[in-house]
Amino acid sequence: MRRKVIAGNWKMNNDLNGTVSLISEMKKEMQGKNLPAEVIVCPPFTNLETASALLKDSSIKLGAQNIYFEESGAFTGEISPDMLKSAGCEFVIIGHSERRTIFGETDLSINKKIKTAIRHGLKPIFCIGETLEEREKGVTFNVIESQLRKGLEGITETELQNLILAYEPVWAIGTGKNATPEQAQEVHKFIRTLISKLFSANFSHQIVIQYGGSVKAENAKELLSQPDIDGALVGGACLKADSFVKIIEAA
Ligand code: PGA
Repeated sequence: MRRKVIAGNWKMNNDLNGTVSLISEMKKEMQGKNLPAEVIVCPPFTNLETASALLKDSSIKLGAQNIYFEESGAFTGEISPDMLKSAGCEFVIIGHSERRTIFGETDLSINKKIKTAIRHGLKPIFCIGETLEEREKGVTFNVIESQLRKGLEGITETELQNLILAYEPVWAIGTGKNATPEQAQEVHKFIRTLISKLFSANFSHQIVIQYGGSVKAENAKELLSQPDIDGALVGGACLKADSFVKIIEAA
């Protein structure tokens, strides 16, 4: 049985005060509950250190929402892997569709980021997903295959041991319109089969593949009970402690 991993992507939400209250509420909501899922929160960069201190006595893990692929130097506005590690991060989201579409990230820069994260001992949460237009054109599998191949190019199975994949159909992100459990399962199964071809059957059985896109307390159980869905990457619904903890409970 693969472990279930629920990650909360806060995006550009919560200042320091908001961070303190959300994490404190989450800890309170989770107290005394035996929640077997692995839980990760990904606040904005400026709140990572505060979040890390608050999470010291908890099982909740910390991730960042982005990383730069260089180690240091003249890259105004960017954040290096060592900076993330020293702020207490264990995970980092790479290739989120908002990074791809709003900030022009490419498969190549995403591939470099994944390599850099791994080299520094950070665990990538690598996001892939098709747009509505691509789904309607019937090219979902082609898009997923291309993003996956390019993103993981030149990386070995051994190096990928700690990588998490997140399938996030772009049309489901922040829209309230989640993929149906069947639609999501179909793509998750395709991804797992592709991983088995690119790497090994054994690795394809181990790798955690999260679903993301309008996951909420009401639909989490149905989505997470699909055989190839091993967790969720949650945006909007992770900003309220009670709804996020309900999703963790569903897992
Ligand atoms: P959403 O975002 O849950 O608000 O749809 C998911 C994500 O962007 O990771």
